Amino acid sequence: MENMNTSILPLALNNVSFQIGEMRLIKDMTCEFNTGPCTTVIGPNGAGKSLLLRLCHGLILPSSGNITWQADEAAVTTAQAMVFQRPIMLRRTVAANVDYALKLRGVPRNKRQDRINSALSQVGLKRLLDTPAHVLSVGEQQKLALARAWALKPEVLFLDEPTASLDPAATHDVEEIIQAIHNEGTRIIMTTHDLGQARRMADEVMFLHRGRLLERAAAKEFFAGPKNDLAQAFLQGELLWWRLGKDNRRLENDD
Ligand SMILES: Nc1ncnc2c1ncn2[C@@H]1O[C@H](COP(=O)(O)OP(=O)(O)OP(=O)(O)O)[C@@H](O)[C@H]1O
Ligand SMILES: [Mg+2]
Repeated sequence: MENMNTSILPLALNNVSFQIGEMRLIKDMTCEFNTGPCTTVIGPNGAGKSLLLRLCHGLILPSSGNITWQADEAAVTTAQAMVFQRPIMLRRTVAANVDYALKLRGVPRNKRQDRINSALSQVGLKRLLDTPAHVLSVGEQQKLALARAWALKPEVLFLDEPTASLDPAATHDVEEIIQAIHNEGTRIIMTTHDLGQARRMADEVMFLHRGRLLERAAAKEFFAGPKNDLAQAFLQGELLWWRLGKDNRRLENDD
């Protein structure tokens, strides 16, 4: 890791809400992320998982409450990265996509080639170095997005549904890549709708529902039996949408 001597963690959310118009999409969230475990954020569609990651990454700002890192903004910007569910590729070669990310971060040209080669080998895309990124398969694009993030050597990496729409083999590869990034010391905070993946990857689990953090627990404990009844229902595969009521996001009647 770069800047390992000056950690940007802990990341703290203090009573964070995020609102669009009348809709409170993230509600009074308070939590802290420290060094160490791999966190998976789970919960039904629309629970606020992606928004939580976007807030943490700094793409959107809380409507109230605050988000703080243990470092100034410049350090935070260079020490954390995010991979989106549908990564955006530049219409350039695979190698140029990684190169561009490094250039943006201010990595000098003479250091970039090694980083590009190493990141692409680590995700198994070295042979596609000169291929235009937009012709890659969805799974390959996801690996390229991970390589791009990996090359930056972030201290914290946010991953939003990294294996959505991947087949089992590609899912397995991507999980191994994430594990390897984690083993190098990068703090992983990821969302997934795949409970099997959460079981395989997570050290700790955060369960979100209707914009609220309802439970946070060590993965082992959580999967042995979550304390929250909605989390229990979610694990049992029960559909939660019918519990939401007609218009669950209005400010009034907001539980
Ligand atoms: N820009 C926006 N304007 C209005 N509503 C939004 C906006 N962004 C998100 N939402 C709403 O906020 C809620 C949470 O969205 P979010 O994408 O975080 O859910 P999620 O938990 O990631 O769901 P999924 O499992 O489907 O990815 C959803 O109901 C969504 O429709
Ligand atoms: Mg999402």
